[in-house]
Amino acid sequence: MDYGLLMSNVETQFGERKLTQQDLLYESLRHAILSGAIREGSRLLATRALAEQLGIARNSVLYAYERLTDEGFISASRHGSIVSEVSRAASPSLSAWREHAATPAFGLSRRVTGLPHERARPDDASPFRPGVPALDEFPLGQWRTCVERAWRAIDPRELDYRNHAGHPSLRRAIADYVRVSRSVRCTPEQVFVTSGTQASLDLCACLLADVGDSAWVENPGYHGAKAAFRTAGLNLVPIPVDAAGMAPESAHWQDNPPKLIYLTPSHQYPLGSVLSLERRWSIIENATARGAWIIEDDYDSELRHSGPPLPSIQGLAEESPVIYLGTFSKTMFPALRIGFMVVPAHLATAVEGALVELSRQGRVADQIALADFIDSGKYARHLRRMRRLYQQRRVALVGAIERRMSDLLTVSSDGGGMHLTVRLDAPLKDRDVSAAMQREGLTISPLSTFCLSGSERDTPPPASATPDARYNGFMVGYARVLPDQADALVARLERVIRSML
Ligand SMILES: Cc1ncc(COP(=O)(O)O)c(C=O)c1O
Repeated sequence: MDYGLLMSNVETQFGERKLTQQDLLYESLRHAILSGAIREGSRLLATRALAEQLGIARNSVLYAYERLTDEGFISASRHGSIVSEVSRAASPSLSAWREHAATPAFGLSRRVTGLPHERARPDDASPFRPGVPALDEFPLGQWRTCVERAWRAIDPRELDYRNHAGHPSLRRAIADYVRVSRSVRCTPEQVFVTSGTQASLDLCACLLADVGDSAWVENPGYHGAKAAFRTAGLNLVPIPVDAAGMAPESAHWQDNPPKLIYLTPSHQYPLGSVLSLERRWSIIENATARGAWIIEDDYDSELRHSGPPLPSIQGLAEESPVIYLGTFSKTMFPALRIGFMVVPAHLATAVEGALVELSRQGRVADQIALADFIDSGKYARHLRRMRRLYQQRRVALVGAIERRMSDLLTVSSDGGGMHLTVRLDAPLKDRDVSAAMQREGLTISPLSTFCLSGSERDTPPPASATPDARYNGFMVGYARVLPDQADALVARLERVIRSML
């Protein structure tokens, strides 16, 4: 064994990072053992002899041998330092590792690889991308003040493992807010702070359903909910949506009774319909009778433009089996990663207990800062401002679409939030138009991708499938479309569509 050559080979692998002689020798021997260049059972050179051969201090060799001994690669015996038999078994050689790494056994789980990847790239700043607020309008200075104040005032005891359910000040601020603005019936003890709706959905799936249970989802519907339920091992059952929201029939209740029912009743995602009062009652009654939980995702109802916000389902009936979910991703900014669940009073203690193991909420200062932002009226002021701003942007965008493309697109929902839903009235597939727009550098979300296929219930239809005419269209975000840019942006969409006809 040429130890000098071995060391220079290993040294080159570390590139710019300079190793001491002792670390370099340790790394070289470890590498040689793992790759099989030094075989199990063989004896290493005596420390004095190796130090002489390499022209390094004996202490460096002693250090390397000691470390290898501590880690179990070699063991000291009467005959010197012997390479352990377990060393390769415990740590497969690098080449064997590479072979394994290429096999699917080391890939992601089947539940995850089956998920659709329809979401935009994270760096996609396209103004039509739905779901992203006007981030440059967020009052960063005010928020910074709240965060700094929170850190300055923080009690060191807050830095411990505690507040699994969220900081008490934020739980109280949220309870006060949703009671008034969303007619949610709750006390602070029923409010659980999470890292956003996605985390709330994961928790709901895990807290309220067992593997193999059925979860009803709106069809078309929100990818995030489907992803959470699918990865929790639930059986997705798509329920059609019409102009009055989710429309289950008696056959659905009989043949596929749900354990969870996911709803976006105030602003159906993505079609924009509002769940009618009649359907709300019917779903509550059926769910109560069959022991099913309703998960009410109220993601953007604070941003309603016409009329007062609709009251929540949760507040309709005392003791209804509803988990109400809220998020600050739309009203503040998505990277804040703060959302919340409101659970029925009788479940609050059990949920709090389960969260100790399941989810340990962090970022205590952000939570205190958010409570301050809400309590001091800054949140309500910001919301009022954004509602006005989004309303102007919505009017400009709808105007541009109707002026230029009333023969090609019909605006089918624009009641609130930050996006429009438009139907494509041309003989084209929404996915094809969306792909052509992507090549133009503009993201526009095709509605058909939010559907699950009828035949294979929890898989999306293949890209080649002809979309259902009701869901052949787009979600068009307007929160970041400036009124004086709306016409030029719509003109680009018009050019693409007309060139495809
Ligand atoms: C229907 C729906 N619910 C919830 C959310 C927000 O989720 P989060 O709080 O995880 O950002 C979104 C975001 O796009 C959404 O579209």
